Amino acid sequence: LASTEVDLSAIQPGQAIKTTFRSQPLFVRHLTPKEIAEADKVDVATLRDPQTLEERTVDGKKQWLITMGVCTHLGCVPLGAGEGENRGEYGGYFCPCHGSSYDTAARIRKGPAPKNLEVPEFKFTSDTAILVG
Ligand code: FES
Repeated sequence: LASTEVDLSAIQPGQAIKTTFRSQPLFVRHLTPKEIAEADKVDVATLRDPQTLEERTVDGKKQWLITMGVCTHLGCVPLGAGEGENRGEYGGYFCPCHGSSYDTAARIRKGPAPKNLEVPEFKFTSDTAILVG
């Protein structure tokens, strides 16, 4: 299966883009220090799908949040990356199909989705590029 290279150099803090990985939407987000702090202050034990931001990002590069753009409820594409700046009440992504809200670590916080947005296999190939898959 094909890998996808993503150039991060133009993605500003606070910005998220939507691209494609294996024919599915992929979200690439550059978290601000405030968004990182919001993700870190959550008590993981209270989460439906308990994971820390660290577990969902690469060591030393936790400002880069790479997830599939596929809601874990019934597969709609959430808003909040590129078009559609409605990021929902937890500041991450919002799925308009049935109202799932994801936080700044793309963890499910409210609504029917059972799981966090999936983090695909990826690695950094330089300071400003990743290879997904
Ligand atoms: Fe996203 Fe149902 S598909 S909330």
